[in-house]
Amino acid sequence: MEALLLGAGLLLGAYVLVYYNLVKAPPCGGIASLRGRTAVVTGANSGIGKMTALELARRGARVVLACRSRERGEAAAFDLRQESGNNEVIFMALDLASLASVRAFATAFLSSEPRLDILIHNAGISSCGRTHEPFNLLLRVNHIGPFLLTHLLLPRLKTCAPSRVVVVSSAAHRRGHLDFTRLDRPVVGWQQELRAYADSKLANVLFARELATQLEGTGVTCYAAHPGPVNSELFLRHVPGWLSPLLRPLAWLVLRTPRGGAQTPLYCALQEGIEPLSGRYFANCHVEEVPPAARDDRAAHRLWEASKRLAGLGPGQDAEPDEDPQPEDPGTPSSRSSPLSEEPTVSEPHAIPHNSPDLSKVTHRIQVKTEPEP
Ligand SMILES: NC(=O)c1ccc[n+]([C@@H]2O[C@H](COP(=O)([O-])OP(=O)(O)OC[C@H]3O[C@@H](n4cnc5c(N)ncnc54)[C@H](OP(=O)(O)O)[C@@H]3O)[C@@H](O)[C@H]2O)c1
Repeated sequence: MEALLLGAGLLLGAYVLVYYNLVKAPPCGGIASLRGRTAVVTGANSGIGKMTALELARRGARVVLACRSRERGEAAAFDLRQESGNNEVIFMALDLASLASVRAFATAFLSSEPRLDILIHNAGISSCGRTHEPFNLLLRVNHIGPFLLTHLLLPRLKTCAPSRVVVVSSAAHRRGHLDFTRLDRPVVGWQQELRAYADSKLANVLFARELATQLEGTGVTCYAAHPGPVNSELFLRHVPGWLSPLLRPLAWLVLRTPRGGAQTPLYCALQEGIEPLSGRYFANCHVEEVPPAARDDRAAHRLWEASKRLAGLGPGQDAEPDEDPQPEDPGTPSSRSSPLSEEPTVSEPHAIPHNSPDLSKVTHRIQVKTEPEP
């Protein structure tokens, strides 16, 4: 009996430790009112993205849910309007696996939305599922699509500065390794998928780092955020059916809720005073050190150049300087009241928005970046 009680006590103690170190997420603070500001959250129809969008809507932002499924995106927009009491939550179609779709989204967004204050790259995949693409689908969805989207939306972010880009990465980046000779090779089998996921999350951290360097002095800052281990569909949807009833209760016990997972991305989007930490990696609402591979400036720049190529941004496609109209003042609520739900057309898949600059020419590069103390 005593042994049983001791065992139960130890189990409870272990769970309390897991709960406070892993499951419980510190709440984000930050700007309380986002009235008059516009945010885009990719993959906002489920999991962390949906909870991120909900909090932004609760604080009064106009929130664009950039999702690949119209049905799931519209349903999420409806839920979020109901839950937040904010009618300015809308769906726009974006499939990050398709560069044409990314361009169509950007064209539609730039022609209909005068502001962009917060861009959250949340969408991500951990597996290729049943698709067999002739390229690295994990890198495409988790990094190349977001890279292109940032590039195309940058003029609007700049005119609305101070503005922010948040890239939802993962602690898995610590296992990542970028092989530049085979970045875009198709991924086959679960072992390659696990590696490709970690690599794509390392790409997220390096992207945020290089983007911060490129954007110094523009008022646009960016951050890589790790949401923590979250009970979402990211991995669970790929678990074999027979294992699911075992894993789901366990996941519920030891993983964060999506709302908890949203806190660090929200912190990066909303916390005042973190601008000097632009380009850094955050977890549990704190800046965190990253391994040498994730703070290698040469690798970050090399990835930038490779990403430009993979995103179809050749030197000949550099665009003209930003000539965007001045955005409305963020203090003034948006003049549009009806949600826009038109799916962008994909009839001109390779049209580059008129005022999309080459990020590599925005500001001068700083070769050596010293890590400021958190
Ligand atoms: N869950 C974790 O433990 C964990 C840990 C570290 C980092 N993260 C990161 O957190 C982010 C959100 O993941 P989650 O856990 O919330 O997973 P999730 O519930 O599976 O959400 C992923 C979202 O991405 C969307 N998406 C997938 N492929 C897309 C594409 N081609 N184009 C546009 N959207 C696409 C999904 O849309 P559909 O519904 O249409 O599939 C879904 O809305 C990911 O970047 C992930 O890497 C998660």
